[in-house]
Amino acid sequence: RLDVIEKFHGISFPGHLHNKDSMQFALKFPFQDTDILIVSYPKSGTTWMQEIVALITNRGDPHLIQTVPNWTRAPWLEHHYAAAVLEASSITPRVITTHLYHHLLAPALHGSKAKVIYVSRNPKDVAVSFYHYHKMANFLPGPGTFSEFLNQFLEGTLCFGSWFDHVKDWSSQTATMNNLLHVTYEEMWLDIRGTIKRLSSFLQCPLVEDEINNCVKHSSFSSMKDNKMINHTLIPPEIVDHSKSSFMRKGKIGDWKNMFTEEQNQHFQNVFKSLMQNCPLEFVWE
Ligand code: PPS
Repeated sequence: RLDVIEKFHGISFPGHLHNKDSMQFALKFPFQDTDILIVSYPKSGTTWMQEIVALITNRGDPHLIQTVPNWTRAPWLEHHYAAAVLEASSITPRVITTHLYHHLLAPALHGSKAKVIYVSRNPKDVAVSFYHYHKMANFLPGPGTFSEFLNQFLEGTLCFGSWFDHVKDWSSQTATMNNLLHVTYEEMWLDIRGTIKRLSSFLQCPLVEDEINNCVKHSSFSSMKDNKMINHTLIPPEIVDHSKSSFMRKGKIGDWKNMFTEEQNQHFQNVFKSLMQNCPLEFVWE
């Protein structure tokens, strides 16, 4: 395992992608009003949203998503390669991704009209997806047992910080930031066509019916599973080990039921209730 972890503002990040300079670059990034920023806690539907946004801005044409890896066409702002990738890129509009909390990016975003899409997913499924991902991602610490992993998830000590803080931090901005759209994994799953329409209107990219059909087709789980530009098969095996799990793993709502014991579920509900008591968000769990 690579296991080098960097800490910034009390949050751990994998050291092979993040360093102090890359973090400074992100926190001081000069956003342009035409930028589209995709924000998420890991395993919430980030890649799915990157694919959908690229399809919408290309009117359903899959050429870009099938020829350019997602870390080049929608780079993570806090990764060390972001500055060079953004400098070299001629893709318009510029699409950027981040897992950072709102309070860290707030100064950089202040006064910007960049369009921000916040993607969230029900946290039980996030925890399960993240657990499987920790097994294959050698740049993350070993997950231990699911029980140990779940405790770290609930304590907010995993890499990228607390799911609870992340969701509260960003969703509290929906009332004040009128260039922020909150989309959930579950609504994409239950109504992809409706979500694509909502996104195309938010992004001011009106689409005709055929273009919407193409967006739906090329962002499906089965199309994406075979897309080398996002399914992690381009990443060397010493970094992600595909014998342990796969990046496009199940793509379902409610997979937590296959992992959680009754006791773990009860504990989760108690922590959720106490940490989310002032949060009006509703979740689809199954
Ligand atoms: S990451 O590592 O943060 O970028 O991961 P992220 O892309 O946020 O989340 C990965 C999970 O999203 C699922 N996924 C999809 N589900 C349904 N349909 C589509 N098209 C799709 N694309 C990605 C992916 O399978 C991971 O979830 P799990 O539950 O592990 O399968």
